[in-house]
Amino acid sequence: MANNESSQFPLLSATGLCKNFGGIKAVDNAEIQVPSGSITGLIGPNGAGKTTLFNLLSSFIRPDKGRVTFDGEPIQQLPPYQIAQMGMVRTFQVARTLSRLSVLENMLLAAQKQTGENFWQVQFQQHKIVQEQKALKERALLLLESVGLAHKAYDYAGGLSGGQRKLLEMGRALMTEPKLILLDEPAAGVNPRLIDEICDRIIAWNKNGMTFLIIEHNMDVIMSLCNQVWVLAEGRNLANGTPEEIQRNSKVLEAYLGKSA
Ligand SMILES: Nc1ncnc2c1ncn2[C@@H]1O[C@H](COP(=O)(O)OP(=O)(O)OP(=O)(O)O)[C@@H](O)[C@H]1O
Ligand SMILES: [Mg+2]
Repeated sequence: MANNESSQFPLLSATGLCKNFGGIKAVDNAEIQVPSGSITGLIGPNGAGKTTLFNLLSSFIRPDKGRVTFDGEPIQQLPPYQIAQMGMVRTFQVARTLSRLSVLENMLLAAQKQTGENFWQVQFQQHKIVQEQKALKERALLLLESVGLAHKAYDYAGGLSGGQRKLLEMGRALMTEPKLILLDEPAAGVNPRLIDEICDRIIAWNKNGMTFLIIEHNMDVIMSLCNQVWVLAEGRNLANGTPEEIQRNSKVLEAYLGKSA
């Protein structure tokens, strides 16, 4: 379960978000709040609009209407790279990794603000750059260990399974030392033993102050990690509350059963 000391200050909050795709109201006047220090869940039947909501929160797509605030700043007009620099990163439902680079190179590419990116600093601060690269490589290898991919560090990312790519994406997101990480179905396609390990890591990262928003169909993962859960159905907010409240909520049960019927 998430860090109980999570404050009520919303690190991320969105209100009135709308997104239409050619007549389909993928997200329809949705709101969400992610308290600083929490592990917050986002659930809902297939096609409920969860990934679209992530895309709106992280500015990968622009809302038709609505506001998004991160760390006290309105961000809905900012490009995703600026939002990442502010400390919010996300992973994708279908992982996006660079197949022709090694797993370790994929990790190193994610690191931000390196001295070696600046022409003048390259000329005058060679020693600093070498030190920084060494520290980054050590950090990358430690994170790969924590997502169960240390043994793959020097393999091409293209050779990883779907589940392993998801773990690599999570590792890449953590390279940037974010305040908030949005995970789109982190457990999908990952073998069950590793899912338990990843949950333990998420709890440990959360205890160190990192906030999470997690989309997941695996209810064991949601129930064991989250201190609050938001439910979407047909683009709209259906409910929010503790995992126990959500499990007992008849509207939520109906939405899920309605879909599978
Ligand atoms: N780029 C797009 N163009 C057109 N329709 C889209 C687009 N992206 C999503 N949709 C539609 O919007 C709705 C919400 O999709 P979304 O992927 O956000 O759902 P989801 O809750 O993430 O579902 P799942 O659990 O299956 O991942 C669906 O009807 C989907 O077909
Ligand atoms: Mg989705």
